[in-house]
Amino acid sequence: MADTQVYLPVRRFGETTRRDTWWAYPLLAFLGFSAFIVYSTWAGFQNRHYEFGPYLSPFYSPLIVGESARAWIHAAAPSWWPAGLPFSSAFLILWAPGGFRFTCYYYRGAYYKAFWSDPPNCAVGEPRSTYWGERSFPLIFQNVHRYFMYIAVGFIVFLTKDVWDALWFTDNGVTHFGLGVGTFVMLANVVLLSGYTFGCHSLRHLVGGRLNVFAKRPISKLAHDCTSCLNRSHMYWAWASLVMVGFTDVYIRLCSMGIWTDFRIL
Ligand code: FES
Repeated sequence: MADTQVYLPVRRFGETTRRDTWWAYPLLAFLGFSAFIVYSTWAGFQNRHYEFGPYLSPFYSPLIVGESARAWIHAAAPSWWPAGLPFSSAFLILWAPGGFRFTCYYYRGAYYKAFWSDPPNCAVGEPRSTYWGERSFPLIFQNVHRYFMYIAVGFIVFLTKDVWDALWFTDNGVTHFGLGVGTFVMLANVVLLSGYTFGCHSLRHLVGGRLNVFAKRPISKLAHDCTSCLNRSHMYWAWASLVMVGFTDVYIRLCSMGIWTDFRIL
């Protein structure tokens, strides 16, 4: 069979024959990511107003070091923390979910477009003519995603425990079962984060994608089917969980500051 060589046109940066609003998605992604990064960084530095009654902000969970009764280590800061540097308990944990999202296969495609236009969008001219890909330094480090995935699954366990704790209110010195709006906020947060985490491409590979044959591996088949089902909507889980985790912190923070009232259902 004869070979046919097809030369794709080399486009200048931003040049395209597309007629749709190809710039809208990268712009929205840029605004969404920027807003979350600014807010989460600010909230992480506060080191206060991260709990209200039985509620704990996901930005501070698990609470490893703190002056709260629920902290694993009761101290204002770890003994090894450099004097003079501001400390927040969020510093000890936020690197893990942050790293998990930063290296996520979906987010990589989104922020490569949104933040460094590489490419700005499909079939739109790029700012450079060479392709480095993710097999070269520095983007080869994105492969740590599979290890962040193990840690992220552990965080789902902690956040689920937080929802359980959010069912127990103490009034007049008596601890009792209850339901507040905050309980549902925290439940929605863990559901959305679970949908995002358990639809991870790395997890899908781990539970069954690496197998060539599913016969005689019914549990792997079931796990792979479940992960694949979530994975099909990974982008939506990613955005919904990002918004919800931020809102959960806002909700608990504003209740703690006395600006919002947490209505009790029970
Ligand atoms: Fe998105 Fe793993 S690929 S969380």
